[in-house]
Amino acid sequence: MKKKLTNLILITAAFLGAWTVNANPDIEKGEKLFQMCAACHGQSGEGSQNLNAPASAGQSQWYVKQQLNNFRASIRGSHPEDSYGRQMIPMATILKDEQAVMDVSSFIETLPLTTPKTTLTADPSSGKASYGICASCHGTSGEGIAALNAPRLSHQHDWYIVRQLKNFKQGIRGSHAKDHYGSQMRSMALILASDKQIDEVAAYISTLE
Ligand code: HEC
Ligand code: HEC
Repeated sequence: MKKKLTNLILITAAFLGAWTVNANPDIEKGEKLFQMCAACHGQSGEGSQNLNAPASAGQSQWYVKQQLNNFRASIRGSHPEDSYGRQMIPMATILKDEQAVMDVSSFIETLPLTTPKTTLTADPSSGKASYGICASCHGTSGEGIAALNAPRLSHQHDWYIVRQLKNFKQGIRGSHAKDHYGSQMRSMALILASDKQIDEVAAYISTLE
């Protein structure tokens, strides 16, 4: 009996071991892969307004991985009007397999936060009330809540936040039948009644530490 139990533990440990090895990210490989991403997302992952690329720094491994897989499967970026999302599809497809996606997304998570400069003239204090509902998923400091699949919003470019909110609202992002998390966010963006309200909430988000 005791022997059987020991065997069972050993077999389980071997299984878990194999699984962990498989899922182990190689951060150095990820850093090399990131070089091609840096052409648009910047060497420090700071993003680039000229290239319409958001900041990568500050994004969690689970979120980057999820988005890369969505781009790879054309769940994100395939809407005919999603001209910026479409650019990411070939980039995500360059990553040859799940391991490469894991490596690059794990490297991105190691990048220190950057603080993009604000571009909006809207009044952040007017956006504070609208942010109340957002905080329930994205956190009061916009830090993101993994358990709710809601990414960090703080330390992201305000023009990118605005664009995503408009894209969600218009169904340019989040309307693909398999985009479960995107569709959750789409119903939230629909609450924001006007462009002014979108600018204000994005201006408020840019004040979050
Ligand atoms: C040619 C420029 C370009 C390159 C190279 C590029 N990206 Fe992007 N990336 C973009 C643009 C533009 C967007 C914004 C898409 C949108 O507006 O929906 C984006 C969006 C993303 C997003 C979604 C971010 C979010 O907050 O939802 C991730 C993740 C991402 N890129 C990762 C990568 C990785 C990893 C690489 C390298 C393998 C890479 N990108 C290479 C232009 C680029
Ligand atoms: C019910 C939970 C929930 C609420 C409430 C919510 N969000 Fe989200 N949000 C999400 C999820 C989940 C995603 C990720 C969607 C995906 O995977 O594509 C997301 C994504 C986003 C993105 C895209 C981020 C990126 O890096 O591309 C923005 C911007 C955003 N939310 C802003 C807001 C704002 C502003 C509010 C309040 C008006 C809000 N959210 C309310 C769940 C929520």
